[in-house]
Formats: sequence, structure tokens, C-alpha cells
Amino acid sequence: MTLLNFDKTSRSTLLRHGHASGDGQNGCGNLSRMTRSVQAAVAAIGTICSLGVVTLIGGCNSEPKPLEFEPNLVYAMKYQMKEGVPTEQASEDAFWLVTEMFGTPENPKLPTVVTEDDDLASVVSLENLVKASGRIGEEGRGLYQTHCVTCHGVTGNGRGELSATMNPYPRDYRKGVFKFKSTERGEKPTREDLAGLIKNGINGSRMVAIPNLTDEDVEALVDYVIYLSWRGELERMLMDDAIYELDFEEGDRIINPANRNAADEELKEEFDDAWELAEEFVMDIGDAWLEAPDAVVEVPDPPADFVVPDSHEEYVAAMGDDRAETLVASVARGRELFKGKIAACSKCHGENGRGDGQNTDYDDWTKEWTLGIGIKPENRDELIKLLARGALPPVNAKPRNFALGAFHGGAKAKDLYMRITQGIEGSPMPAVTFVDGQFEEDDVWHLINFIRSLQEDAEEESTPEPAPQQT
Ligand code: HEC
Ligand code: HEC
Repeated sequence: MTLLNFDKTSRSTLLRHGHASGDGQNGCGNLSRMTRSVQAAVAAIGTICSLGVVTLIGGCNSEPKPLEFEPNLVYAMKYQMKEGVPTEQASEDAFWLVTEMFGTPENPKLPTVVTEDDDLASVVSLENLVKASGRIGEEGRGLYQTHCVTCHGVTGNGRGELSATMNPYPRDYRKGVFKFKSTERGEKPTREDLAGLIKNGINGSRMVAIPNLTDEDVEALVDYVIYLSWRGELERMLMDDAIYELDFEEGDRIINPANRNAADEELKEEFDDAWELAEEFVMDIGDAWLEAPDAVVEVPDPPADFVVPDSHEEYVAAMGDDRAETLVASVARGRELFKGKIAACSKCHGENGRGDGQNTDYDDWTKEWTLGIGIKPENRDELIKLLARGALPPVNAKPRNFALGAFHGGAKAKDLYMRITQGIEGSPMPAVTFVDGQFEEDDVWHLINFIRSLQEDAEEESTPEPAPQQT
């Protein structure tokens, strides 16, 4: 494996950004020889090849390319640029270890430290992984390929074929960070959190509800997301540890596969130690998933002296009856807090909550390989090495525009309570800090009412739908 061993997905993303290296792996010719004007056509042919429609176009391999996980080359390059040490070998070794332990997109497996431990073995079921993995059309398999891969990528790196056009980008699960959950900041989401998002989609994003998924399908996909996150986080932890513990320039390695059965005891012991360290990382990540249900935040009931509607419709209804007076007062209090110095929501969301305050920030996924290594995300020239290894071009993390009324983590009052009190992990949206006598827990409900008051009716906002065509 070399640092430029991209699969078809990443190549098509690269094509869109004009950094194609063109290793011609799909058997459709060397892309680097093509000019820009034919790249789109080539990408289309690549897709057709991958679907196995080979009779129409000569020159494609008839064997479909195996599904493959990609190593986290951006992460390796980030460290290479930051620390000035070569990370190619380390990346290769980490990827080898992760593959040994977690298998491949067609043959997923779980490390023995997981399967031999009753608790850890309950995190995901191998049966579900088999069902969610595999190819489209494979009997009883292929759920992830069918429903998720175009956005989240085979590896769960958020880099599917459609990703480059979205903001936010589809989640890269490998960081192990999730935004819309019922647990405390810093904790993993629960299975129910993930299942809800998969079942219902993420309102306001391009991820939509998928009709016809059974509950069993959703459970299998939840397992698969956790699996991809687990293996991806392990790869990162191996790199993190290595970068600070090993001397790459002296030839230190994360693990040397050749020593697995080495006759030399010292070499064998070195291998075993490295393997055990990886197992410890695996267990740490698994434990974090196990702990999620205990980290669920108990959202209190709103105070009884004013209403906190769960939707825009309920809000409008309450404004039309005897609840209006206290609701109006609550909205006013919310507005005052929203714009005030302490809660300071308007700093990002803008005076009128239209998402037009400070909105040139980035999410943590982007920051770690830009600002995290001292490069401005706007400075594309300095990012070329990272973009060439699959990083998606930095896009601003936009504060929500409340006029639209689309809440990614759920629109109910309790959902919004969670977002405001815990913040949105991985994004610039902070958790609130209360100040005695000035900004207290009950005030969150006023903020929610104010935010609700900002929603504009969809009919007024959008252009009218064209009349249905007669067929
Ligand atoms: C059309 C593109 C698209 C498809 C298809 C798609 N997603 Fe997503 N997904 C997204 C986007 C975009 C986000 C980020 C939304 C955000 O941050 O607001 C996301 C976020 C997520 C998250 C993170 C939620 C969180 O709390 O951080 C999970 C988990 C997820 N998707 C799982 C899936 C699964 C499983 C499938 C297949 C059943 C799927 N997605 C299909 C685009 C997609
Ligand atoms: C530093 C900037 C910043 C500040 C300050 C801030 N927000 Fe946000 N907020 C964001 C960003 C960015 C998002 C979008 C996050 C995402 O989905 O990735 C967001 C999203 C939200 C959402 C949408 C949740 C959802 O499910 O879609 C709500 C509600 C919200 N903020 C409320 C508030 C409130 C109330 C305050 C003040 C107490 C506040 N924000 C302060 C940046 C900020």
C-alpha cells in the first residue's frame, strides 16, 4: 500500500477537486492522462464499471473491485506535517493491525478481546455486522452499501461520492464524536440515539429518512456505525500513541507483522506487546460505548407557569389562546438572554437568529488537520497534501438559522434543551454556562420559546411548488 492508494470513491472526489493522481486501478485507463474536460465522463464510466455493466463500454475489468477500507491518510499526513517525521510506515502498520482485528467491508470481524468478554461482546453483534456489510444485492447483506455509502464512504470517513456538495459534510465516524445525542458532552451516543437518526433522518441536512427499513435493519446499521467508528478510532489511537512514544526516524514501528511468529524471542515479545497495547485501546473504546446508557442526561420538566411548545404548530396554537400572555413574556425573556452578554447566543446566531453572526468558524473534524497544525483553513495551498489524501475542502460550520425551523437533533423542547445545555459536540456550538441570578436552568426554556418564535411559516418562505404535471 502506498500513500496514494485511493479507491474509486476517493478518486472521484479528487477528480472533482482537480487533484487526481490517476493510478488507473479500476481498469478504465490512467486518469492522469485525461484532460479536465473528459474527467466527468470518466467518472461516469468508472461508476458504470463498478456496477459491472461492462458490455456497453470496452476496457473495464469484468471483476468488480473488492470493497476496501481506506487507511486514514489525512491523519497520518497531519502528524507528518505537524511533527516533521515520516508517518507512512506507521500508517501502514496501524492499518494492518486494525484490519487484523476488525476485518474488511466484506468480511467484518471483531477482536478476540471483544468476543471473549461478555460485556464488550454486547456492544455490537457480529451477525448484524454481516447483515449490514457486504455488497448491494448480496443475499441478506449490503445494507450499508445500499443506504449509506454514497455519503459516508465505505470506511465511514464521511467521504462518499456525494459528500463534497454538502455542508455539513456527512459524518466521519472515525473520530468517535457524534452531535445529536441524549448523553452528556464527551460521552458516546446511545444505540437509541443512533437508531432514531437512521430511522428518521437528520432534518435540515441531506440525510433523509429511508422508507422500508425494518427495525432489525436499523439495529444492524447502528451496529455497523459503531463498528466503523470503533475500528476508525483504534487507528487514530494507534497513531496518536505512536507519534509521542516511538521514534520513527530510528525505525521504530507500531507493529511489525513479520514478527508475529518470530523465532527470536525478543522480536516475538515486541510484537505481542504491540498487539496487547492495541487490545487495550480496543477495550477503552468499547467501554466508552458501554457507558453511554449511564451518561444519559435527565431533562427536567419545564416549569408549570408557562408553556413550552414542542413544535411551531403548538406554538402558534398557544399564541392564540389563554396561554399567550405567559408565552409572550417567556419569549421576551428568551430574547433578552439570547442577545445579552451572558448567554450571548446572538454572537453566532445573529441578532435575529438567522445564523448570520460569527459564522466563519469550522468544525472539529476540519480543525484538527488545519488550525490544529497551524494552517489556516482558507490557505488551500498549504492544504494540498491533505486534500490529496482525501481531506474534504474546509467549509464553514454555519450557526443554525432559526427562521427555517429545521433542527438537526430533533425539534421537541427537550431535544433543544439537550442541544443548548450540552452544546453540539464537534461543532462551535458551546454548552451554556449558567450564572447565579442572571442565567439559570429555567431560562433555557425561555430561550427555547424565543427560538421557536423565530420560525417563519414555510408557505411564506419558500417559492410555491409547481403544479403537479399531468401524465
Ligand atoms: C445523502 C447523504 C447521506 C446518506 C445517504 C446518509 N447520511 Fe448519515 N449523515 C449525512 C450528513 C450530511 C450528516 C451530518 C449531519 C449534521 O452534522 O448535521 C450525517 C450524519 C450521520 C450520523 C451522525 C449523527 C450524529 O449525531 O452526529 C450518523 C450516525 C449517520 N449519519 C448514519 C447514517 C447511516 C447509518 C446511513 C445509512 C442508513 C446514513 N447516515 C445515510 C448524510 C447522509
Ligand atoms: C460560538 C458560536 C455559537 C454560540 C455562542 C451559540 N451557538 Fe448555537 N449553534 C452554533 C452552530 C455552529 C450550530 C450548528 C451546529 C451543528 O449542527 O453542527 C448551532 C446550532 C444551534 C441549535 C440547533 C440545534 C439543532 O438540533 O439543530 C440551537 C437550538 C442553538 N444552536 C441554540 C443556541 C443558543 C440558545 C445559544 C446561546 C445560549 C447558542 N446556540 C450559542 C454556534 C453557536
